[in-house]
Amino acid sequence: MHLDSGERRREIWGSRFGFVLAAAGSAIGLGNVWRFPYLAGQNGGAAFLFIYLAIVLLIGLPVMMAEVGLGRFTRRNPVGAFAKIVPQSGWRMVGVLGVITGFAILSYYSVVAGWTLRYLVNAATGTFTSLTDPGQTGALFEQTVGDIQTVLTFHALFMVLTVAVVIGGVRQGIERWTLILMPALFLLLLLLVLRSVTLEGAAKGIAFYLNPDFSEVTGATFLAALGQAFFSLSLGMGAMITYGSYLSEREDAVIATASVSLFDTLAAFLAGLAIFPALFTVEGAEPTQGAGLAFVVLPAIFHRIPFGGLFGAVFFVLLAVAALTSAISLLEVCVAYLTDEKGWTRKMACCLVGVVSFVLGVPAALSTGASTFLSRLPLVHMGFLDLMDTIFGNVALTLGALLLCLFVGWRWLPEDALTGTMEGSAYPQLAHVWLFLIRYLCPLAIGAILLQTLIKLLLSG
Ligand code: TRP
Repeated sequence: MHLDSGERRREIWGSRFGFVLAAAGSAIGLGNVWRFPYLAGQNGGAAFLFIYLAIVLLIGLPVMMAEVGLGRFTRRNPVGAFAKIVPQSGWRMVGVLGVITGFAILSYYSVVAGWTLRYLVNAATGTFTSLTDPGQTGALFEQTVGDIQTVLTFHALFMVLTVAVVIGGVRQGIERWTLILMPALFLLLLLLVLRSVTLEGAAKGIAFYLNPDFSEVTGATFLAALGQAFFSLSLGMGAMITYGSYLSEREDAVIATASVSLFDTLAAFLAGLAIFPALFTVEGAEPTQGAGLAFVVLPAIFHRIPFGGLFGAVFFVLLAVAALTSAISLLEVCVAYLTDEKGWTRKMACCLVGVVSFVLGVPAALSTGASTFLSRLPLVHMGFLDLMDTIFGNVALTLGALLLCLFVGWRWLPEDALTGTMEGSAYPQLAHVWLFLIRYLCPLAIGAILLQTLIKLLLSG
């Protein structure tokens, strides 16, 4: 694969599975292991899980097909893709919104990935083996993310890694890595699940995660699930447009996008199934504790597995690599835009976006304890990292996806849209189902959820 987005020399994926591997690499990341479980915990557990699954199937998958189809048809970066279909129109701003969103997400994504790197070191040096209960792992987490030097060092380290990979041109590297590392990550998740569900008292957590109680569901639950679906599937900012632009016409985009969604959802599901049973085995456990959830609970499970220290270290290596393959796609969208549309060199684009994104990540890094002000901003009553994640990781992606649906469903010629998404597919009969979803169900559902949130904000404000 060759991630140079210029139209000349545009290559397609190296192997048959190139797209699926790279797109799964982008999709599977901290969103699955870190973000999904803590959002599920905050939004009622099983009810959130079921709403999430329905959203992935009815909204996430059609939107992914739309993005991939748009990229494959135009063979451009997100901004260029809109501009190619309707030159000189405002639609290209949807692409620009995507580039800005990607850049903003990268800034705090790198902070959380930095925590993962720090935990990798902890696991490798045996720190977890002396921690026997979640109270202690919780204290370790607070101490880790509240330490200025730690958070900044590892945030910087992760950003440098991301920039280095993207400068090198991603070529075969990712495809090959993903092929080995993703299955390994799944195996370790499975191991964690097995240990977690067999712990004494696990039933309570299993019920929390799998036995839905829809009575507490609100509009906020839907927005959280919708935003999480877009975040986890890497939708709403053009990453899949970019990756789709390297997909051959001969490939079946329906199968490819369905496989990516399936793997991604499975990874999130397993992460939750590892975390909640273990969490509920301790007295006074809080599923609503927020962004630290995975980092507090997972080390405590490793502690109860033979050779847990080793498995723990391997797990955090895999999670860090998964985060890296996701961060690459965030950076790549910005770089593709700057090189394609603004004529920058690849190296300059990578370095500049990396540096600015690092700087924007600094307040996020300090907002988990190091700075009291940033940890609890006035008015919004949340930390800077959470604020960035709400604005960009949720609302901006949702808005981007809505505009994309309107564009693909109503502005783009249906024949071309169908060529982009369905060409080479063994399931042409799905064409009309997809068109219906992308024209009606997706924009209406996304629009309604966004509007509802907006009204509530205005009323409360
Ligand atoms: N999907 C990745 C994760 O779950 C994060 C990510 C990568 C992303 N590229 C994206 C999110 C593009 C939104 C848009 O960790």
